[in-house]
Amino acid sequence: MTNPDERSPMDWDQRFRDETTPWERQGLHPAFLHWRDRGAFENIKRVIVPGCGRSHELLAFAALGKESIGADLSATALAWQKAQLDKAGLDAELIEADILLWQPETPLDGVYEQTFLCAIPPRLREEYEQVVHAWLKPGGELFALFMQKEEMGGPPYGCAIPAMRELFPDERWEWPDGELVPYPHPSLNGKPELAAILVRR
Ligand SMILES: C[S@@+](CC[C@H](N)C(=O)[O-])C[C@H]1O[C@@H](n2cnc3c(N)ncnc32)[C@H](O)[C@@H]1O
Repeated sequence: MTNPDERSPMDWDQRFRDETTPWERQGLHPAFLHWRDRGAFENIKRVIVPGCGRSHELLAFAALGKESIGADLSATALAWQKAQLDKAGLDAELIEADILLWQPETPLDGVYEQTFLCAIPPRLREEYEQVVHAWLKPGGELFALFMQKEEMGGPPYGCAIPAMRELFPDERWEWPDGELVPYPHPSLNGKPELAAILVRR
């Protein structure tokens, strides 16, 4: 059970218990499917989905044979993940914690970011960048879906690309060339998420 506090003012567990979860997609994210189908996950052995909630990508990574870690503050969401994994006969490590305070024993190859960065209070963003950088081995990849939102406030808090370029600076992250592909969210008023694979230097 989650206690709302300064680090996490939202009672996320309550949101899952109340079924007020408008951020949820009813299947795999189209960017995940695109990345998977073009082999973008081939070099990924160990991957974490921070703030996995009840998203489907954790199970999908496990089905691809990846050592998969799902982390969330919400016991309700993690119980849902466990039930899906059990039903599919698959395994993943499930961590119920403030994941920004966690460190893996061995570095990871991948981080899959979907509506987590936009969910945390913006004052924790630098901490997020530091911790994701520390989780990944050099050459490890952050599969990011940056939520675009012009209105102030949140969650979700907008992750405009100029702010993301500042948060994930070139000295520490290699950005892809060219325009990022937008994926409109099916239920958050069609807000686009911009897909980018950032390589940890
Ligand atoms: C907007 S939801 C997104 C869930 C999921 N990624 C999805 O796409 O459906 C944000 C999730 O992050 C979790 N969360 C928020 N702050 C967290 C933290 N500090 N550590 C771990 N999980 C956190 C919440 O419990 C919630 O499941």
